[in-house]
Amino acid sequence: MAELHAANIVEYLEEQRQKETLRFITCGSVDDGKSTLIGRMLYESKCIFDDQLKALETDSKRYGTQGEKIDFALLVDGLEAEREQGITIDVAYRFFATDRRRYIVADTPGHEQYTRNMATGASTAQLAILLIDARKGILPQTRRHHRIVTMMGIRHVVLAVNKMDLVNFDPAVFHKIEADYREFARDAHLDTLTAIPLAAVHGDNVVKPSPQTTWYHGPTLFDHLDAVDVSHASTRQSFRLPVQYVNRPNLNYRGFCGRIAEGKVRPGDPVRVLPSGRTTTVQSIDLWDQQLSEAEEGASVTLTLADEVDVSRGDLIVATDAPPEVADQFQVRILWMAEEALVPGRPLLMKLHAKEVSASVMEIKYREDLNTGAHLAAKVLHLNEIAVATLATGQPVAFEPYATNHVMGGFILIDRLTFATVGAGLIDFALRRASNIHWQALELGKGQRAALMHQTPRCIWFTGLSGSGKSTVANMLEKRLHAEGRHTYMLDGDNVRHGLNHDLGFSEADRVENLRRVAEVAKLMVDAGLIVLVSFISPFQSERRMARELFEPGEFLEIHVNTPLAECERRDVKGLYAKARRGELKNFTGIDSPYEPPVSPELVLDTSKETAEECALRVSQLIQGR
Ligand code: ADX
Repeated sequence: MAELHAANIVEYLEEQRQKETLRFITCGSVDDGKSTLIGRMLYESKCIFDDQLKALETDSKRYGTQGEKIDFALLVDGLEAEREQGITIDVAYRFFATDRRRYIVADTPGHEQYTRNMATGASTAQLAILLIDARKGILPQTRRHHRIVTMMGIRHVVLAVNKMDLVNFDPAVFHKIEADYREFARDAHLDTLTAIPLAAVHGDNVVKPSPQTTWYHGPTLFDHLDAVDVSHASTRQSFRLPVQYVNRPNLNYRGFCGRIAEGKVRPGDPVRVLPSGRTTTVQSIDLWDQQLSEAEEGASVTLTLADEVDVSRGDLIVATDAPPEVADQFQVRILWMAEEALVPGRPLLMKLHAKEVSASVMEIKYREDLNTGAHLAAKVLHLNEIAVATLATGQPVAFEPYATNHVMGGFILIDRLTFATVGAGLIDFALRRASNIHWQALELGKGQRAALMHQTPRCIWFTGLSGSGKSTVANMLEKRLHAEGRHTYMLDGDNVRHGLNHDLGFSEADRVENLRRVAEVAKLMVDAGLIVLVSFISPFQSERRMARELFEPGEFLEIHVNTPLAECERRDVKGLYAKARRGELKNFTGIDSPYEPPVSPELVLDTSKETAEECALRVSQLIQGR
């Protein structure tokens, strides 16, 4: 008896394992009956446990809106309330199965402020159920949901026209909604679009065809989900393996581990490693203690290669006959997920397949109004906004357009200081192939030039509030250095803003650009062999860090002129603080624009405690000490 049981379980588990999995997302709000629909699906597929069901029956009588009947919304909403506390990316995954398929449902809140959650849920889904309240028809939120799911690459949509019972199962209402949706979804070129009239509360057309909709000849929701073909019809199936990890247990074994993003691989296949471009052949495909004769898309494998080629984490191993493009500038679509706005030019980290590189948005081409689809001008991008933009990476990366392959063309953006995920994006296409750019090979180097001047080139970066004494100290230092026979140059905010940067103001975006240009100029001058003194408020940590990263270790010295705001304001040499206080000058640092103090500067000065001469002397000693 016990044995029979065990055999049954094994059989059952094997059956489950062989079922296909379909991942879908439900889009709509509780008002549209989303929770009721999900609850109904879980119930019909018997995926609610008995104790949950008992509790549900009791709760339904007590709090439900369905009289003596079960209120399925309570099941899902109960879970929702738990989730509502302080979780940023809020996607609940629910699981159920029918005889044919296993299902993973991404359930996300539908309101505008939850766009990032919906995009996260949609990024792994193959199909979307867009929920419509039959009484209300297509709403701006339906259009928004449609735009998010299609942007994330979903090609299969079910238009679930719910609450048909409240419009007397009127076919005219249903057909009008379907026609309206087909009209505006035409440009999206979906692979399948199926509209189904539902009354999720009563179960109409969820599992069994409803006697109320004899005019409807399409499938029920479950029939459709069980049958819909979501295998992607990509014609090109070239092998791509992003290397997630290099396994070196001993000197004789080097295995490259990752999940196959596309195509198949067999031992003996010729492959190319990107971005280096080196070619070799696959020696073996290892899985624990087995060796496989073939592996395909979706499989996690370890490859060994015939030759000792250099492969590191983040590289790609690909078919030699059809390698992907390598580029360092892209047109992308970005969804911004952080409270703090995206400012073009600001350095970020980008994670694309297994690769992490520095990147920054160069220009926001336009922002898309998700409700209307209109293209809007935008200088910065706020939380939950979507834009088409250009993006540059610090080094060339191999990729595929997102439309071709989600793994190879979908990325996230990460803040360099907090390492928080601040955005998600999709590559549309490359703007510039990396193979076209080469550094001009120069005969003479920084070393030779500096040797002729008998000095070590440096960038001495003064940061601090307006009126803190940066320029005074920097001037004095320059005079000292000059007297000692050093070759110097001074870049001062007030002066550079008259020439090179005369097109820039004091918005956050303009300051970022101001500092980017100055940092690049300082780098060129250091390369020329000079000791460069930079005196800019430079209020943001991330730009100062970006500047530091342009230089070699030890070359960049950050000097924080930490004179208290009250003292700077008391001095008010240019009368600007008074103006700012009167509200006549906007975005004034320290008044209505922030100053982020350096975390670990090479030196901190305070000109209210020491004279400018003393300060300059301390910087000079710092330089000599190095
Ligand atoms: S930064 O923030 O972009 O680094 P920068 O050092 O170039 O600023 O310029 C600062 C100088 O511009 C100040 O010393 C002041 O004379 C002048 N200024 C004019 N408007 C502002 C403002 N809104 N905020 C700060 N400085 C301003």
